Amino acid sequence: MKILVTGGAGFIGSALVRQAVEAGHEVVNLDALTYAANLENVAPVAGNPNYAFAKADIRDREALDRVFAEHEPDAVMHLAAESHVDRSIDGPGDFIATNITGTYNMLEAARAFWTRRDKPEGFRFLHISTDEVYGSLGDTGLFTEETPYDPRSPYSASKASSDHLVRAWHETYGLPVLLTNCSNNYGPYHFPEKLIPVIIINALEGNPIPVYGKGENVRDWLYVEDHVEALLTVLGKGKVGRSYNVGGNNERQNIELVREVCRILDEMKPGAAPYSEQITYVTDRPGHDMRYAIDASRIRDELGWEPSVTVEEGLQKTVRWYLDNEAWWRPLWEAGAGKRHGTKS
Ligand SMILES: NC(=O)c1ccc[n+]([C@@H]2O[C@H](COP(=O)([O-])OP(=O)(O)OC[C@H]3O[C@@H](n4cnc5c(N)ncnc54)[C@H](O)[C@@H]3O)[C@@H](O)[C@H]2O)c1
Repeated sequence: MKILVTGGAGFIGSALVRQAVEAGHEVVNLDALTYAANLENVAPVAGNPNYAFAKADIRDREALDRVFAEHEPDAVMHLAAESHVDRSIDGPGDFIATNITGTYNMLEAARAFWTRRDKPEGFRFLHISTDEVYGSLGDTGLFTEETPYDPRSPYSASKASSDHLVRAWHETYGLPVLLTNCSNNYGPYHFPEKLIPVIIINALEGNPIPVYGKGENVRDWLYVEDHVEALLTVLGKGKVGRSYNVGGNNERQNIELVREVCRILDEMKPGAAPYSEQITYVTDRPGHDMRYAIDASRIRDELGWEPSVTVEEGLQKTVRWYLDNEAWWRPLWEAGAGKRHGTKS
């Protein structure tokens, strides 16, 4: 199958590109190469004849039409987005333009292409979204696919809007769409503005390890390669028009996660003192959702997907990767990737 992946030079998109090419698919990676992109992330498959790169911005409809006409994909997996909640607090405009208008452009370009080709049965448009669209949970309960949307940050509101557009294009025009809403991912090639690389790198650099608020916020953590397997499963076997929640069954308070990463670092690269001594509580993110937790029983029961990596194993692999790949993160870190955003509300 020839898959057009948008955002394939980012964190999850590049894992998808690598795994899809390795699984024998043809992949066209469409990416605008924003600050979050890095073509090093796809270097392991860049020489493969089944891989192609198309530099294009999803805000530019004509560029999208050109990519569809040139590459004629059998399926679209749409990941391109502005993805950092903290940046959405400082500058929501880019999130509206890319996540909402960009998704609208992708839907229209896909619909025009699909219609021109006489609406092939097997064509699919898989939209990759987040559990953050559901809002925030108390101490108990899980997000199901029926949970009403209640986004609370500019990022999650823009993703929720894009999900609504995708469903509308199915109901109104019959475009064969699928949606996934996934919990927090982590793993190799994670841009060092996000929590786990920020912990690892600050620990190694001897800096304070910043923990927002009291560190009590709970997230469900999924290893990125498991997420990619879920996406390929939904693309292959998902029911058109349906949404699938994807989660890791790994709920952790942020502070527990930070302590676990410090403990792994103590084992793999012992310092003069335990890394946990560097943990520093900092002002919380405005509107910081307290808890996200996913009920992933639909994708398990209907499609047979389950996470294969526990959070302990996934963190071990991730810490090992950052220790072995300083050449990847050092230039990003020195260019200021770890700088905090989203404090001026
Ligand atoms: N990271 C997570 O934990 C998580 C969880 C659930 C869902 N998601 C969703 O998965 C997708 C990928 O997330 P990620 O963490 O890999 O993001 P990322 O920020 O690492 O990568 C985003 C990619 O999209 C590209 N992009 C951004 N704007 C673009 C534009 N206008 N045109 C073309 N390309 C553009 C960037 O260049 C980058 O390569 C997003 O849609 C995100 O909402 C992420």
